[in-house]
Amino acid sequence: MSNSSTPAERTLILVKPDGVRRGLVGEVIRRIESKGYKIVALRMLTADKDLLANHYAEHQGKPFYEPLLEFMSSGPIVAMIAEGQRVIEGFRSLAGATDPTLASPGSIRGDLARDQGTKVVQNIVHGSDSVESAQREIKIFFPNL
Ligand code: RTP
Ligand code: MG
Repeated sequence: MSNSSTPAERTLILVKPDGVRRGLVGEVIRRIESKGYKIVALRMLTADKDLLANHYAEHQGKPFYEPLLEFMSSGPIVAMIAEGQRVIEGFRSLAGATDPTLASPGSIRGDLARDQGTKVVQNIVHGSDSVESAQREIKIFFPNL
């Protein structure tokens, strides 16, 4: 039997402006690290609309697109690269469902977010949804890596 392990993956995680405003950066990092993933890059920035239009290109034209860009540029965010086997799906599981009202208790969104009645749902974190998205998004937020 082989002892070889699958190669580590990387994902792009964002603590969104609601998470930073509420002082939840440490709590999000704690959950990522407690799960056993390694944070290999981290920066704080206030994203402009051009960067966000690139990041959210798949959502262009959807009713929540403009409110999403407004919200995501409304204050500082924290961008991270986390690494580990199956970290992409693992972090999506830690984050919980997109709608924080429905996100399972125990998840970041289920425990820490709720519907605020805003035009776009505010849900604390972003995590890449595939290997292709992760590679694309990491280049946007960490062009030098
Ligand atoms: P994310 O990209 O932020 O990790 O979240 P996600 O995959 O769970 O959700 P996605 O469908 O990619 O949507 C991106 C972000 O847009 C906002 N959104 N609002 N109906 C709505 O009001 C709505 N749908 C999406 C959320 O902030 C979501 O995380
Ligand atoms: Mg998404």
